Amino acid sequence: MAPAVLIQNLQKRYGPVEAVKDVSLTVEPGQIFGLLGPNGAGKTTTLRCLCTLTKPDLGIVEVAGVSAIKNPKKARQLLGYVAQEVALDKVLTGRELLQLQAALYHLPRAVAAERIKATLALLDLDNYADQKTGTYSGGLRKRLDLAAGLLHQPVVLVLDEPTVGLDIESRRVIWDFLRQLRDSGTTVLMTSHYLEEIDALADRVAIIDQGKVIAEGTPSELKDQVGGDRITLRIREFAPLDEAEKAKAMIQALPFVQDVLINPDQGNSLNLVVVPQSEALSTIQQALKEVGLPTFGIAQARPSLDDVYLAATGRTLLDADVAASGKRDPKAERKQNMR
Ligand SMILES: Nc1ncnc2c1ncn2[C@@H]1O[C@H](COP(=O)(O)OP(=O)(O)O)[C@@H](O)[C@H]1O
Ligand SMILES: [Mg+2]
Repeated sequence: MAPAVLIQNLQKRYGPVEAVKDVSLTVEPGQIFGLLGPNGAGKTTTLRCLCTLTKPDLGIVEVAGVSAIKNPKKARQLLGYVAQEVALDKVLTGRELLQLQAALYHLPRAVAAERIKATLALLDLDNYADQKTGTYSGGLRKRLDLAAGLLHQPVVLVLDEPTVGLDIESRRVIWDFLRQLRDSGTTVLMTSHYLEEIDALADRVAIIDQGKVIAEGTPSELKDQVGGDRITLRIREFAPLDEAEKAKAMIQALPFVQDVLINPDQGNSLNLVVVPQSEALSTIQQALKEVGLPTFGIAQARPSLDDVYLAATGRTLLDADVAASGKRDPKAERKQNMR
């Protein structure tokens, strides 16, 4: 069976900006595939190339074996696209908006009525269907966007930052829905710059940075690649440097410890990378006690997708986002998203 989505060596530039330098990814049917990366990484451009909204400069783009470049009409039938921001017509009701969408996809009247009914029920929108969309909350609007994207029963649902700006509760509703959709056989390709969202949802992830895929795999494969668990240790709330150095020397000698760094920004706390093992915390505390040092706080965590990003790029996703937002023009961006 052909992959649900196949993108090979995709390139797209806007004038001097290389929005996508080299992106390849394969999405197998029935997966939630996550494209994770900071603002400006090229996620939206990749999706727009896939959804035939932008013509790539180079590369292969296929949906279920159909070329989106040579056969865009057929590819569009196989895809549902939910853009990051949709300029919903606020005076229409949810139902009217779906009727419009059904007409755009040339669904016969009887089929449209049936699908609209089923889709409204699926997204728990029955009670809001006859209200004007201008009255909708962010979470409701997003659910209506999803309903519109699903009306023609696409093989692949493509979502650009589906929960950006939503509160935790609305995000969870969307997450549950996307899992349900995947379990019923629809392939989902989504972007996010929230690593916890991709971690929670995606069966496979491609991390994208500056127009290139820098890591690809299941979330746990990627985390395993960056090595051991992380331990954060404080011997005091604000430890003197000589005490921190003493602790560091002690801890470094333990066989399961791979790396120790003193963090002066956090009161000389210690950041450790260790080979995962159950006794790590108590062993460290015991070792410190033997040299007369206290433990103010200690915590162990598995590496996160941000550690994967950090290992590949030398900065965290949050830093990259902050850097990107400094040079962004929100007005131009809004215009682009509405196109
Ligand atoms: N229509 C456009 N015209 C000019 N530059 C663009 C356009 N769309 C995107 N870009 C630029 O391409 C780069 C990638 O953007 P985008 O694909 O939107 O990234 P992301 O979705 O990951 O935030 C950014 O530098 C962005 O400013
Ligand atoms: Mg984007």
